[in-house]
Amino acid sequence: MLKSDIGIIGLGVMGRSLAKNMLSKDFSVSAYNRWTEAEKDIVPNFLKDASDNAQGFTNLSKFVNSLQSPRKIILMVTAGAAVDAVVSELKPLLDSGDIIADGGNSHFKDTQRRVQELKENDIEFLGVGVSGGEQGALHGPCIMPGGKQEAYLQFQPILEAIAAKDNDGKPCVSWIGPDGSGHLVKTVHNGIEYAEMQLIADCYAILSPTHSNEEIAAIFIKWNKGDHKSYLLGITATILQKKEGDDYLIDKVLDKAGNKGTGSWTSQLAFQLGIPTPTINAAVTARYLSSKKEERMKLSKAIPGHAIDEVPSLEALAATYRACRILNHHQGFEVIRAASDAHNWNINLSELARIWTEGCIIKSQLMESFVDVFKNHTSILDDRTILRTILKSEKPFLYTLIYSLKYRLLNSCISESYNYYAFITTAQSSAHIIQAQRDEFGAHTYRRNDRPENESFTTNWTNNG
Ligand code: 3PG
Repeated sequence: MLKSDIGIIGLGVMGRSLAKNMLSKDFSVSAYNRWTEAEKDIVPNFLKDASDNAQGFTNLSKFVNSLQSPRKIILMVTAGAAVDAVVSELKPLLDSGDIIADGGNSHFKDTQRRVQELKENDIEFLGVGVSGGEQGALHGPCIMPGGKQEAYLQFQPILEAIAAKDNDGKPCVSWIGPDGSGHLVKTVHNGIEYAEMQLIADCYAILSPTHSNEEIAAIFIKWNKGDHKSYLLGITATILQKKEGDDYLIDKVLDKAGNKGTGSWTSQLAFQLGIPTPTINAAVTARYLSSKKEERMKLSKAIPGHAIDEVPSLEALAATYRACRILNHHQGFEVIRAASDAHNWNINLSELARIWTEGCIIKSQLMESFVDVFKNHTSILDDRTILRTILKSEKPFLYTLIYSLKYRLLNSCISESYNYYAFITTAQSSAHIIQAQRDEFGAHTYRRNDRPENESFTTNWTNNG
């Protein structure tokens, strides 16, 4: 048997779909899945409907020997301990110059550590973000590779062939930068995704007391034909229409949201970098609050909601949704910019926005507009047209906020986006009060607005005069 172009470890949904995608582009693929009683059919099932270019293994050393040198291996295993376990099994089987690419949702700090550990054996390690779910992996995902550029170049022809294509036909894959940069941008991609999902859920929460599922679906379909167009809005409209017998299936889905951690990683990272991401944080918190179902049920009996006697303005909600999405993306990109600066990664935000226009879960018309925004600005809110859009949305934004507060309708991301907007556009904040308090109780010092910023002062605040 000829040696394969590439190897994939882990034939779960994403691994299997990526392997099939590569085979469909005429690359030869060796696939490995561990042998356990529960997983014994995985490799045979994969080979059953794979082309002749596929080889399957449950023996790691045979798998490694089936690959062309330098070997290119993609790990599609659960992030965390499983990645370390596979890497330590692989290490003694590999030769200098071989490359391992981790295609899972790993924490970028784990990726940084693995890069260093494998350096000792002269093995390159790439952290590769992959987005698009099963269908994306099968027909064209968005791929965010980070690590040594020379190592990426070995994968480039394969990744470019399997990736989604943007409006100009260019592949939605691009070398993000060195080190853990690929996994970092995938994490923040997911943080933005959490808030994009929650913003749609907030709109649903505001509409649902006065609109049927069909009516909300129709509103979302209409929005999806204009500048609100996004993959997530489209699937939500579809979800709302799904029937089970005479009932809507969505009404039977338990309202406890799960998560695999990347949303909270984005918030943690933002806090570490000192970048405010309240819209994203609110989306993470909303998932945690949702899981407190029993407590919510109990308290809702003690403190019932309000009767609703007016219908929300759809025009105002649409404008609110527009402004919140801009603020959400702004926060996410600011985290990436700060991380890139902190690590000297030099991430190209315009190129990142470009690869996020297709193949990934947060693809949208709005994302397409950011490709040009980042050609001229370092930050989304530096763009005058975008600022004008938000300004035009201010009144409707406020109306929606007041409406949802008045009737106690859940508005996690909408209210936090408004607070962010209010704060970021206020020249004189109340932080001087905080500084004076800190100085009073801890002599932490403060700076003065009538003196150069590099001078600090401390005062005995209790003595007047
Ligand atoms: C994924 O990467 O699988 C999803 O985009 C995010 O997953 P979660 O919602 O389960 O955290």
